[in-house]
Amino acid sequence: MSNDPQYDLTGRVALVTGASSGLGAGFAKALAAAGAKVVLAARRADKLAEQVEAIRAAGGEAVAVSLDVTDEASTKAAYDAAEAAFGTIDTIVANAGVATEKMAMGLTVDEVDSLLAANVRGVFLTVTEGAKRLDAAGSREKENGRIVIIGSITAEKIFPATSVYGATKAAVRHLGKALAREWARRGISVNVIQPGYFESEMTASLFESEAGAQMIKAFPRQRMRPPSDLHAPLLLLCSDAARGITGAVITVDDGQAL
Ligand SMILES: NC(=O)c1ccc[n+]([C@@H]2O[C@H](COP(=O)([O-])OP(=O)(O)OC[C@H]3O[C@@H](n4cnc5c(N)ncnc54)[C@H](OP(=O)(O)O)[C@@H]3O)[C@@H](O)[C@H]2O)c1
Repeated sequence: MSNDPQYDLTGRVALVTGASSGLGAGFAKALAAAGAKVVLAARRADKLAEQVEAIRAAGGEAVAVSLDVTDEASTKAAYDAAEAAFGTIDTIVANAGVATEKMAMGLTVDEVDSLLAANVRGVFLTVTEGAKRLDAAGSREKENGRIVIIGSITAEKIFPATSVYGATKAAVRHLGKALAREWARRGISVNVIQPGYFESEMTASLFESEAGAQMIKAFPRQRMRPPSDLHAPLLLLCSDAARGITGAVITVDDGQAL
């Protein structure tokens, strides 16, 4: 049974960062299936092309743009390319992120900087660049800005080997609420989805290991759910129905953080 809800996003133009794999690729497909034009952004052009092809094969509209979220010039160039394809981006899913499986004493300073760069600096650059363009395009009157930041339950609950990763996710949880307040009168909503553990490139090695199997046994429902569980809240937050929802944090984790 599909979890994809029936929100109509026809007319919306979405940009999904980190859409070359995992959750982001699924978000792009779900948005396109709901009628949005979708710009898929990440560094790996070959993987992006595969995702775009799949969306087009299913009847959706999509293009790929090259993006390194840690780089300001790359972010501006990606928005320029996205706008050239589909016009102003009114729906931004700041999903790109990286993780490590190391305990704090094993993390190098370079690894810490990489986590902060992709997960905090990257989210900041993605959403502020998008918000400036939305503001300039009249979002205050149109009330059409929708930003969704992908956080993590590790922002709130301590899981093994997630110290700095969880700190980056706590940072963007805070950022989402703060920007929701700052942009409340600019017609831009900012909300955060906090996924639990789902299978993706990021978590593949963990859940292939004995430690991963033990972790699943310790979850309240002792199972993994499919990433499509995240699509209902995402499409809701991107839809007109969410006009009055901003600064919210929605956890989708099958109870893992309880
Ligand atoms: N899977 C989970 O259990 C889980 C749980 C909670 C939260 N999350 C969050 O969900 C988001 C997606 O993760 P995922 O599980 O789908 O992992 P994934 O399959 O590894 O996807 C991560 C995506 O981020 C992109 N990315 C990484 N660094 C980037 C950069 N500097 N510039 C542009 N794109 C970059 C990658 O694309 P390129 O390599 O092509 O650039 C890739 O598309 C992340 O923010 C993650 O923290 C995941």
